[in-house]
Amino acid sequence: MMETKDKPAMRLDRRGFLKAGLAAGGAAALGGSAVAAESDPLITEVQDWNRYLGAGVQAAPYGIPSEYEAEVVRRDVEWLTASTESSINFTPLHELDGIITPNGLCFERHHGGVADIAPADHRLMINGLVDKPLVFTMQDLMRFPRENRVYFLECAANSGMEWRGAQLNGCQYTHGMVHCVMYTGVPLKLLLEEAGVKTNGKWVLAEGADAAAMTRSIPMEKALDDCLVAFKMNGEALRPEQGYPLRLCVPGWEGNMWVKWLRRLEVGDQPWHQREETSKYTDLLANGKARRFTWVMDPKSVITSPSPQKPITHGKGALVISGLAWSGNGKISRVDVSLDGGRNWKSARIDGPSLSKSLHRFYLDIEWDGSPLLLQSRALDEHGFYQPTKNALRAERGENSIYHNNSIQTWHVKADGTVENVEVS
Ligand code: MTE
Ligand code: CO
Repeated sequence: MMETKDKPAMRLDRRGFLKAGLAAGGAAALGGSAVAAESDPLITEVQDWNRYLGAGVQAAPYGIPSEYEAEVVRRDVEWLTASTESSINFTPLHELDGIITPNGLCFERHHGGVADIAPADHRLMINGLVDKPLVFTMQDLMRFPRENRVYFLECAANSGMEWRGAQLNGCQYTHGMVHCVMYTGVPLKLLLEEAGVKTNGKWVLAEGADAAAMTRSIPMEKALDDCLVAFKMNGEALRPEQGYPLRLCVPGWEGNMWVKWLRRLEVGDQPWHQREETSKYTDLLANGKARRFTWVMDPKSVITSPSPQKPITHGKGALVISGLAWSGNGKISRVDVSLDGGRNWKSARIDGPSLSKSLHRFYLDIEWDGSPLLLQSRALDEHGFYQPTKNALRAERGENSIYHNNSIQTWHVKADGTVENVEVS
């Protein structure tokens, strides 16, 4: 291998590696890679895993993550809800990369626990203002043409605790009510066409088969646009907690409408004004009036690393700042990152697929000089909608809200690398 001046790390000899590293100005010049110590037993001694046979192919018929990743789990906040059946846990966003959420880490939100349904016993009914009321078995649904689409799902209550000020210390808790997977399903349009929607059929009521029997009114225009009746996530069957065997996908719209364990679709001529669209999932404004039917999830972003649960542990020098951005309107066209609480902004690099109504992954690669930072990110979507500051959002919406908080998040990175949730508006 040729040694060149700008590639000192290419030299294989351990001493040469060390020398070359130092000559080139140390770790920073090598893009953050550590320079090997003079006598590192992990390099010089043969290790057990290198000496003995490992587990065979029968050890894990369904694979599980490495034991060293045991901290990468969904977490809940005990005081947030009264019971674990009507509760929420959070996606560990700070531990993930790319745009796809692994199935076992997708946050869960249920109002009556996880329904346990054998697919052979599951039925989907379409009734109401249709020519032909229908009941589908899972097998019937498998005979309709299907689509594969990557979508984020965000609960309208995501970041709800943060309205009045910084509360929860970690993006898992402040922003972890979002996940993004590839769904396989049948376009809802095809099923409605099969039943034949009458001309006065303007709304669809979606109902779940769980103990909460969740119901939401969806305008016909959306039902015929991009809604999916999904049975797979990331290629495998939906997880029970995500609505196995069947869930509704309402792309870009608040998570509550994505009815899990979907059992019935009723076509009507007006909305039903169910609990989840009146007393819940509406936004109480400063004047005492409530906004309702605020379905679209506006552009939002968060820096996932560094963040309170993901401090900087490597000291000064090369630092990868990374985060997620999404918009219920479509694609993200730009993400800006500020290191100084919103005074100056730099364009981040979006890497990986940029798909409509899906998570986008962004990076800003910097040299950190060890001084404190006030990290922020702001997203702009392809339709020109952008993420507001917290003050701008509160000026518009007042202080009563819980739902639909898409404001800019600030992390205070301290000189020692620890990170804290703070508010800078
Ligand atoms: N559907 C049913 N049947 N029951 C529920 O409790 N919760 C809703 C929605 N669909 C719910 C449901 C809410 S509030 C959200 S945010 C999403 O499902 C959460 O989906 P997830 O559990 O896959 O993250
Ligand atoms: Co929700």
